[in-house]
Amino acid sequence: MLQPGQAPVQSASERREALKSVWAAARVCVRCPELASARAHVVFGAGNADADLMFVGEAPGANEDAQGLPFVGHAGKLLDRLLDEIGLARGDVFIANTLKCRPPGNRDPQPIEIENCREYLYRQVELIEPSVICTLGNFATKLLRDDPTGISRVHGRPEVLTLGSRAVRLYPLYHPAAALRAGAVLEALRADFARIPDLVAMPAPPQPPR
Ligand code: URA
Repeated sequence: MLQPGQAPVQSASERREALKSVWAAARVCVRCPELASARAHVVFGAGNADADLMFVGEAPGANEDAQGLPFVGHAGKLLDRLLDEIGLARGDVFIANTLKCRPPGNRDPQPIEIENCREYLYRQVELIEPSVICTLGNFATKLLRDDPTGISRVHGRPEVLTLGSRAVRLYPLYHPAAALRAGAVLEALRADFARIPDLVAMPAPPQPPR
């Protein structure tokens, strides 16, 4: 597998083929022995492999592990609704997670697991080439911002960052599961979502020289 930062392939079909190779590596990954032995499926991500807009959540839960798809439980239904409110559907975006395997009992991802899985996420970003990445919740936000500042302080504030070889507009959002627990968080998430179309319509950030 290519390492993050290696020169990306060019055409959309080449990128899609390379993404399939990353998927093939991820589906047999045993870097986290506890997660590998407990999982039913590696949840690689789903959607449009050439999307301008990508979402990165935390980790698969029980439903996602059972189906092999991201965000198919209650939080996923809310994500679908919020996408619909801004005129988008799952097929317009790519949805991935910080971890590709379910932490047993839905415990928090451990730092070593996040580190083990980071390469897959960065390769997805390099090969999908989104111009906007919405992080959902603390784990994805802290990982991709490389900063421990919590989501309540940074949600709704877009910033340009370089992830591997790609410059992207990162847009931190509350996690939909948190919005299901608190009405004020749902209001904030909905208000932040409303700005997504404008962010996607902006010119893509200039890419670093290869
Ligand atoms: N929560 C997440 O962060 N990701 C999923 O795929 C499902 C729930």
